[in-house]
Amino acid sequence: MSLTDVGREPIAPPADPVVASERVVVLDYGGQYSQLIARRVRECGVFSELLPHHVGAAAVANREPKGVILSGGPASVYADGAPKLDPALLELGIPVLGICYGMQLLAHELGGTVEGAEVGEFGRSQLTVAEPGRLLVGTPAEQACWMSHRDTVFAPPPGFTALAASTASPVAAFESVERGVYGIQFHPEVVHTPYGQQVLTNFLDDVCGCERTWSARSVIDEQIERIRAQVGDGQAICGLSGGVDSSVAALLVHRAIGDRLTCVFVDHGLMRKNEGEQVVAAFRDTFKVPLIAVDAADRFLGKLKGVTDPEQKRKTIGAEFIRVFEEEAAKLADARFLVQGTLYSDVIESGGGTGAATIKSHHNVGGLPDDLKFDLVEPLRSLFKDEVRAVGAELGLPERLVWRQPFPGPGLAIRIVGGEATHERLETLREADAILQDEIRHAGLYRDLWQSFCVLPDIRTVGVQGDERTYGNVIVIRAVTSDDAMTADWARLPYDLLERIASRMINEIRPVGRVVLDITSKPPGTIEWE
Ligand code: XMP
Repeated sequence: MSLTDVGREPIAPPADPVVASERVVVLDYGGQYSQLIARRVRECGVFSELLPHHVGAAAVANREPKGVILSGGPASVYADGAPKLDPALLELGIPVLGICYGMQLLAHELGGTVEGAEVGEFGRSQLTVAEPGRLLVGTPAEQACWMSHRDTVFAPPPGFTALAASTASPVAAFESVERGVYGIQFHPEVVHTPYGQQVLTNFLDDVCGCERTWSARSVIDEQIERIRAQVGDGQAICGLSGGVDSSVAALLVHRAIGDRLTCVFVDHGLMRKNEGEQVVAAFRDTFKVPLIAVDAADRFLGKLKGVTDPEQKRKTIGAEFIRVFEEEAAKLADARFLVQGTLYSDVIESGGGTGAATIKSHHNVGGLPDDLKFDLVEPLRSLFKDEVRAVGAELGLPERLVWRQPFPGPGLAIRIVGGEATHERLETLREADAILQDEIRHAGLYRDLWQSFCVLPDIRTVGVQGDERTYGNVIVIRAVTSDDAMTADWARLPYDLLERIASRMINEIRPVGRVVLDITSKPPGTIEWE
């Protein structure tokens, strides 16, 4: 977030994503770990919602949270325009826990001493507990913790107990049980703070009195109830892509309204090997979800004839996708509701979190235009990706669909680089991709990789096989690790694995004559080649 939008008038909070029996609100002061705090709270079994810090006390009170957590942030409490604490928040009678900048804000507001220290404290640090109080109970007197701050609390506010000190922080934790206000300088949400989860649990359990009943199971029950209330006896339609989000959304809605949901799966002929069949098998055969599977491969390939420019490919595929979907939707004239797998991260990105909207770099092909006349059903709006996977597993979705790596809407077409996506090239690429996935799964590395795939550039290279000179295709192996696709690193796949992959590709796929490895990180490269 930028510091120019801070400390301003309260803003309207985003629509409530969920009806949870109990929740904690995390106010986002722009720290890099804010989302992680929200996730950790959920791992403790309490639904948490991330709200921009300037929503104001009244909006927080409206959510009726059992507790409020103030996140870290990059500002100094003394900086011009630094994000402020709404003092009314401390009068709501709801326990407040400040983390890092959140603690400094509390100290500053309530009369403690916060100063810029000579040296910052970044990374691993040692915490010495003088008095566990309520917050640090059950944790050792000496423990490691993770710090990331320059301003430091030198004295707690009057009436507060200083609980612990660290290498560079005279007051690294404080509390006032009477006021219901707690602060920690260290980051309990990161794995480098081994007792972090214990501290969060103490806050949620003992201080806030949470029952901690939130889980994948409870999400399913709660969403089913919500979907039934929204759809009533109406009909719904869902575009299945084969990805985990649309799959889980469809299954949840099917659980709620049964056969009044119809799924539409458009096979554009640009999927990976057997992917279309797997989707159809799971939904139609196993889950008995009414499914219209449209084999539109010829239509898409026809439209892609002669198209070599990447953006033109995307536009062509996107437009054709909408056309096919609309044709199918028109046959289901009674469907008033459209199911979409929007995730909590999409909600946050479009302004539900810090209020700073990030524009997604790619229009998701498979996404539908806004003017379709449907009411949206979005049962995953409150969930992070890993929670969607947990819900999918709980619903019995096959492991392959639950853990599927992200796959671009335009599919293999944008992995045939610099040339037309012909049937022949798609076949070569599909076979190469199948070998790559097969070997990576065998090596037990599939889940460790954000994405792994092959690219087929429109070039040929010379080789020699047997006694013959060959003139074959090049396959590029691209495998990356990443948290969110914004940045990525090339995966250090073991040499013997790479060797097996390369030799299988050349031996098993006739047109392939050479295999190379892409060792570019993002930035400067992108994950895809086009
Ligand atoms: P880049 O290549 O920009 O990709 O590093 C970031 C993430 O976006 C995916 N991607 C797409 N997804 N339609 C999609 O639905 C597209 O046109 C598209 N292009 C890239 C990419 O696979 C990666 O996960």
